[in-house]
This record gives sequence, C-alpha cells and structure tokens, in this order.
Amino acid sequence: MDMAFHITKAVIPAAGLGTRFLPATKAMPKEMLPVVDKPAIQYVVEEAVASGLHDVLMITGRNKNALENHFDRVGELEATLERKGDTDRLKKVNASTELADMHYVRQGDPKGLGHAVLRAKMHVGREPFAVLLGDDIIDPRDPLLTRMIQEAGKRNASVVALLEVDPSVAHMYGVATIEPTETADVVRITGLVEKPAPGTAPSNYAIIGRYVLRPEVFDVLEKTPPGKGGEIQLTDALEKMAGAPEWTGGVYGVVFRGRRYDTGDRLDYIKAIVQLAVEREDLGPDLRPWLKEFASNLD
Ligand code: G1P
Repeated sequence: MDMAFHITKAVIPAAGLGTRFLPATKAMPKEMLPVVDKPAIQYVVEEAVASGLHDVLMITGRNKNALENHFDRVGELEATLERKGDTDRLKKVNASTELADMHYVRQGDPKGLGHAVLRAKMHVGREPFAVLLGDDIIDPRDPLLTRMIQEAGKRNASVVALLEVDPSVAHMYGVATIEPTETADVVRITGLVEKPAPGTAPSNYAIIGRYVLRPEVFDVLEKTPPGKGGEIQLTDALEKMAGAPEWTGGVYGVVFRGRRYDTGDRLDYIKAIVQLAVEREDLGPDLRPWLKEFASNLD
C-alpha cells in the first residue's frame, strides 16, 4: 500500500432534519432512533472504528445535542449501575463512550451533502478520509469500508461503494457509469449523476453511503455550484474528479454484495430492525418462531 495513503479519519454527516420520521424526530435527531437497542449512529461509528478509523468528525446541526451526549460519559447513570453491580448494562453504557475520538462541527446552512463534507476541511487537512452516511448500516460480517480503503490505497484514488439496484429505484441514488477493471469487485467510474429522472439512469450501479476520498475533493467542492434540489452535491464533485484523474487520481467503485440495512425511511427502518433482531443471539430464538406464526396468520 502507498504509505502516503494513510487514513485515520471518518466524517459522518448528521445534520439532516429527519422529516420522514416526524413526529419521532421533532425533538430528537433521527440518528438516535434505536435499531433494536442501539441508536443507528452507533452502528456507523462502530463500522468506522472496525476499519481502523478512530478519529470521527460528525457534521451536526441544531437539535443534535443527543448525539454528543450519546458518545460522552453519563456520570449519574454509571454510578447507579455500578452501585447495583449491574456490570452488563454498565458495559453497554460505556461502549459508545470509549468507542472513538469524537469531534463535532455544525453545518450551519443546510446546503446539501457536498456542503456538509466541505465543513470537514479544517479537521481533515490534506489527508484521504472516509465519509459514512448514517442511513445505511453495513453488516459487520461483510466488511465494505476496509475493502474500499485497501483499493483506494492501492490506486491512490477516491473510492465509492456501489450496489446493483433494481432500475425502478435508481432515481433515488447517485448513479455511476462504469468500466470493469482487472479486479472482479472493482470498477472504474467514468461518470456520475445525482438522482437521475426515472428511466434515465446510466446504469443500475447506485452509490450507497460509503466514500473514501482524496483531499482534492475539498478543492472541487469549493467550486461546485448547487445541483439537484438546489443543494451542493457530493456526487457532482465526484463526477468532476472522475473526469480529472491527472490530479485527483480518479474515482473507482467497490461493488458491494453483502448485507446492508437501510434505515432511511420508515418501511426500510422496520425491515432493518426485524432483520437484525432475528439474527441476534439474545432475541432471535424467541423472535423467529413468533415471526413465522405472525406471518402465517397475515391476510
Ligand atoms: C445521498 C447521495 C446519493 C447516494 C445516497 C446513498 O443521497 O446524495 O448520491 O446515492 O446518499 O444513500 P440522500 O439519500 O442523502 O438523499
């Protein structure tokens, strides 16, 4: 691996308003919604750490104090659990505190994902870094980010995660035009379009929320005008980088074929909870037979 490609930092945009989950998100950030018994955001931070990225910068906004509190000590609760000798629960409480070296910056104006990522410029400096979006949970048994970091280092390039989606949903994603490479799960990206109109997507390779980016992305983002939805789009910056490999290293995609749980809308969120709970040692054995019976009684 190229030693110049030393990566230690993860950036997690978490400034969205979570309007799809109102009223639950009226006073609480959507990232704190529990997926089984852990807030969605904790899975994402755990994934970053599992890939060796211990320095985590969250891009937050108003109403997001619960996020900072979740990754900080909670003295009174810890003392109570300690007094009771409840070491199991104490462990659970401390896990998120000890997970990573957390940093926070506010986005300010809600000008889009590209703008949120640009807010990480001062913290990241001139190093490659990862971006993880909170709506996607990647199963820890199918390591994706680690694979992306490997490829980014090998190619000294930026790498996004791609998923082959049904063409009918391609318009909900950033979609890539691709060419094969010598590596089966890696493609070279020649073009990108953010949320193409239905029926116009250049392929069914959709970006899912994982990126390993070279710092040149900041230079490009600074010059990226508002795009789709009037927002500064990360996809548009990557499209520029894909077209300028001489100084950006180009953009590649790692095609993910593992387990991914989408928590971005209500239906997917419910599915994610069921999928994850069914596989849990503590809940699965009771949930599975119940679920079967429940399903057989539907209609
Ligand atoms: C963002 C990106 C989009 C990407 C998606 C993945 O969109 O802009 O390119 O495909 O995340 O989840 P959002 O879902 O935030 O609208």
